[in-house]
Order: sequence, then structure tokens, then C-alpha cells
Amino acid sequence: MIIAVDGPTASGKGTIAKQLAAHYGLKRLDTGALYRAVGLAVIDAGGDPADQDAAVAAAERLDLGAIDEARIRSSVAGMAASAVAAIPAVRAVLRRAQRAFASDPAGAVLDGRDIGTVICPDADVKLFVAASLPVRTQRRLAELVGRGERISFAELEAQIAERDRRDTERADSPLRPAPDAHLLDTTDLSIEAAAEAARRIVDTALARPGA
Ligand code: CDP
Repeated sequence: MIIAVDGPTASGKGTIAKQLAAHYGLKRLDTGALYRAVGLAVIDAGGDPADQDAAVAAAERLDLGAIDEARIRSSVAGMAASAVAAIPAVRAVLRRAQRAFASDPAGAVLDGRDIGTVICPDADVKLFVAASLPVRTQRRLAELVGRGERISFAELEAQIAERDRRDTERADSPLRPAPDAHLLDTTDLSIEAAAEAARRIVDTALARPGA
């Protein structure tokens, strides 16, 4: 079984994907981590994440098993990720890695921006997770502050709005719900309530005749 979970920054998709993977005994790929790792690698090498040659070279060198989980979560890595993610040649390299992960017969949960539309258009269940901009900003602020990063609500809100804009307006694989995705708005939901709602959606979809 393949479960595709898409949505904008801090919508709750990562938490939902993690919980679905644990609940159904599936492995999970956080595809945003790939873009973050590529963006950070370019910055670490002193390059510009918008530079196609540098970003493609970093994507080709990416080792999924060697991603530095702590460092890729910074807001700087997030901005770099959305810059490299706008480069079609980078997306093509990372598409291969994501599809290879999803081709395991044991199934998987993948979360990102274009899983249901581009990476796994035949996924068994697709979720599109949303939440209001202020609520997403508050969630991400708590995460970043918890990690010792200093950033104001206003600055972070502007960054998230800018990433939303880049993600939805880019020509290659823009962020949008697949026509057959189930929408889940987590604005007023706790983590547990959102996870439960996601499980209900998956269980209902799997119980459909022919599923
Ligand atoms: O959840 P959050 O926005 O913090 O970040 P993420 O999911 O780790 O993704 C970081 C960036 O990578 C996003 O802003 C997107 O630009 C890009 N991305 C993408 O284009 N396609 C994906 N499947 C996943 C992430």
C-alpha cells in the first residue's frame, strides 16, 4: 500500500505521515528532507541554491542514509530547499530516488508537495493536509525556538508565505491537491485528533469496494 501525504509548510503532514507509517507498519520517506539536504549542501559548499549546476550536482551526490536530521531543520535550510525545489533538473534527480523508495512491494508512506500528483499518482490513498497561515507559523515557531533558533513570528510568517508562493507558483510540480486527494484541515485539530482523522480517511478508502 502506498499512502501519499501532501501539503504546505507546517500543515502537520510530516507528523501525520509518521503516525500513519507506524500505524500501518509501513516505511516512510519525508521527501522535504531530500530538498532540504540538497539546499544545505549547496550552501555548505559556498554556492547559491538557485544555481542549477550547483544544485543538480548536490542532488546527484545526495546519500539518503547520510542526511543530517538536526541541521536540515533550520529555517535557512528550509528557504534553500524551496529554491532548489524550483529547479526541474533537481526535481528529476530526486524523483528517481523517491520512486525507487516507493517501488518497494512492502509499500510506503511518502510526504511532500507532489507525491499524489507526480511521484505516486497511483497511490492507494492520497491526503492533502492544510492549516491556516497563522497556525502553521505558530507551530513552526515553537519547533524552531525549541531548537534554539531566534526568529520573530512576523519574520517566520513572511518566510512561510514566501515558500507557499514559490511552492504553488512554480511551473514544475506545483503544490496542489490531486483531484482524488482527501482534504484534511488541521487548523483546529490537536496532533492526536489529526492523526485519528487521517487514519479514518485511510481506513474508509481501503474499505471501498475494489480498493
Ligand atoms: O514542511 P516544511 O515546509 O517545513 O518543509 P519540507 O516539507 O521539509 O520541504 C521543504 C521544501 O522542499 C518545501 O518548501 C518545498 O519547496 C520543497 N519540497 C518540494 O518541492 N517537493 C516535495 N515533495 C517536498 C518538499
